[in-house]
Amino acid sequence: MEQPLYSKMLTSLTILMMTTTVSAAAELPLLEKQAGALLAWKATLSNQSQQALQSWGNMSAPCHWRGIWCGLIHAVHRPVITGVSLPEMRLRGTLESLDFSSLRTLMTLNLFDNGLAGSIPSSIGLLKELRSLLLQGNQIRGSIPPSLANLRKLNSLMLSENQVSGEISREIGALDNLVNLDLGNNLLVGPIPCEVGHLKHLVMLDIHNNSLSGSIPRNLVDLTKLTTLYLDQNHLSEQIPQELGYLMNLEYLYLSNNILTELAYTTRVTEKCDVYSFGVLAIELFMGHHPGDLLVSMSKKSTLLENLLDTRLPLPEAEIASEVFKVIAVAVRCIEPDPSHRPTMQQAIKAFSATEEPDGHLDYLHTDIAIPACWS
Ligand SMILES: *[C@@H]1O[C@H](CO)[C@@H](O)[C@H](O)[C@H]1NC(C)=O
Ligand SMILES: *[C@@H]1O[C@H](CO)[C@@H](O)[C@H](O)[C@H]1NC(C)=O
Ligand SMILES: *[C@@H]1O[C@H](CO)[C@@H](O)[C@H](O)[C@H]1NC(C)=O
Repeated sequence: MEQPLYSKMLTSLTILMMTTTVSAAAELPLLEKQAGALLAWKATLSNQSQQALQSWGNMSAPCHWRGIWCGLIHAVHRPVITGVSLPEMRLRGTLESLDFSSLRTLMTLNLFDNGLAGSIPSSIGLLKELRSLLLQGNQIRGSIPPSLANLRKLNSLMLSENQVSGEISREIGALDNLVNLDLGNNLLVGPIPCEVGHLKHLVMLDIHNNSLSGSIPRNLVDLTKLTTLYLDQNHLSEQIPQELGYLMNLEYLYLSNNILTELAYTTRVTEKCDVYSFGVLAIELFMGHHPGDLLVSMSKKSTLLENLLDTRLPLPEAEIASEVFKVIAVAVRCIEPDPSHRPTMQQAIKAFSATEEPDGHLDYLHTDIAIPACWS
């Protein structure tokens, strides 16, 4: 009874997937529509820019326009626009007036060294085929839209020399095909999210001359392909992670003009280091082994208490489980990669020794424990 049901479900799923793929291809914008979107954008640019784009006009031949590349993508047997490359042309206008929905076949958007102003519209997230987004050397303002995290195929993201502000969002960790990430010479604030350490293919990471603060994430050591790391001219503080010394391919490392110390001699940091070792020890006690491997391999943000307990031991009973839960929940916070997020030793002790009645309705073994982001 069960098996035929499952196989039926799988078959319907396959058919569903096939029809989705085919209809997605059919829905790709027609070349004429794409040409129309580009002409509409041209009309919003300054007069001088429009003159530079004189070849843009014949609606039936956009593939011959200046700076426009066409190609066949997916299973579509008709050309679509795959590249817009107009660097160093003194173009004045904004990206907001470009209809990205019609241009979602783009693989390259190359507009560096122009005079583009305004912000990066959130509709840029529609360019799911994009490999290369080169917008450096313009006058782009505003924050990096969270939708940028949709551009999963992106290799190069260059936004340097603009006036981009706001924080680098944690979602940047989703861009795991990035090879070059250049956000230097902007007005970015806040911490370097440790999710940057997930971008395993990075060769160049340049975020110099912003107003970034907080510590340098220790897990940047996972970026083993890095040859260039520019973090200078920011407000980064605390210690320089010694792990950076393991980056064998690193040729250029700039850290100057920050507030970094080489060793953790300040009281505050020393205290946080103690609490870290303490957290590791506490977790090791219950897990039966060092937490490192397990937590590194864990991509999820949380796990059930049960999964953190030594499998060789019987599971604790309800009352004990509530105690164990309390200890592990605090211990896990002690191993936050960013010391500023760890509790102090005093706070940790206080949390451990607080006497609270366990919640009789709660199944502690099957309650989630939050795992610190990017533990490494
Ligand atoms: C741009 O050109 C149009 C038509 O030639 C003219 O009417 C307009 O004033 C010009 N605008 C600027 C800002 O020069
Ligand atoms: C526009 O392009 C088409 C296709 O390449 C060509 O046949 C036609 O002559 C062009 N029209 C003009 C006015 O250049
Ligand atoms: C730092 O970046 C800002 C913002 O883009 C820029 O105005 C300034 O000239 C840059 N400073 C240096 C020394 O490059």
